[in-house]
Amino acid sequence: MKIAHISDIHLDSQRNPNCLAEIEELIQRVFDKGYDHLVITGDVVDVANYDDLWALREIFKRNGALHWERVTIIPGNHDVFGKYEFTSNGVGATASRALQSTGLNFAKKLHEFCDIFRETITEEPEITTYFPFVKVLSGGKNGVALVSFSSVLEWSVRHNPVGSRGYIHAEQRHAATQKEVLDALNGRFNIALFHHAYRIFEPKTAADAAFIWSMELIERESFLNTMKKLNVKIALHGHYHKAEVYAIDGIAFMNSGSVRDARTKINSIVIHDDDAYSQEFVKV
Ligand SMILES: [Fe+2]
Repeated sequence: MKIAHISDIHLDSQRNPNCLAEIEELIQRVFDKGYDHLVITGDVVDVANYDDLWALREIFKRNGALHWERVTIIPGNHDVFGKYEFTSNGVGATASRALQSTGLNFAKKLHEFCDIFRETITEEPEITTYFPFVKVLSGGKNGVALVSFSSVLEWSVRHNPVGSRGYIHAEQRHAATQKEVLDALNGRFNIALFHHAYRIFEPKTAADAAFIWSMELIERESFLNTMKKLNVKIALHGHYHKAEVYAIDGIAFMNSGSVRDARTKINSIVIHDDDAYSQEFVKV
């Protein structure tokens, strides 16, 4: 089974009118090259511009990929909150997006994101909460399970002033470790998906530490314990735009980097019938 993983597309057709055509070409190449499944780990759009999300939905649809077996797409902070802009025009827009990204509005925005790509998540007609969601795909020895989390933390002056810190809420961690979920994952090749980087880099200066604080995944050790309980082999994420693989406590973390920066470079994972796997960053 072949999985193509990309992240941090940052679509913004207002600023870059070609970006939708470019991503459509990339999606077509991925499926033409025989990948069974495409994973997108968030920051699909740059400034929470939902017209571009709808356009991406149409791209999946006309390429026959708007289906949970073909694509898994989860949100990043830019999909809900946008980005922090320092220009005189940008400050007002940033402030208004920040205020729209708290409390109930925050929950609604996350829900709206998932609604746009609903066919890629579930066939169930009624759904109240999306995360975490689990899919079992054919592949490996006994199936490949994707466990998707939302790591987008709501905006707040004290805890998330630029909107870029992440958190996998205790409710999601609790839901993921219920017996039914553990049973569904038992014996599978389990892959966790979330947006925020588990590891960024080792800070050497106070400026490094401040930068890392502004975009880190908080309470990540608790989340690591959840992943261990779920027997996760691979964890896929993006957020910090650096393609790399690193191991923590036996889990292989893969940051695909930003496909916008890397152009056509993707994280390519092949899972064999005996559950052995290989990984490389390749151009498609
Ligand atoms: Fe991000």
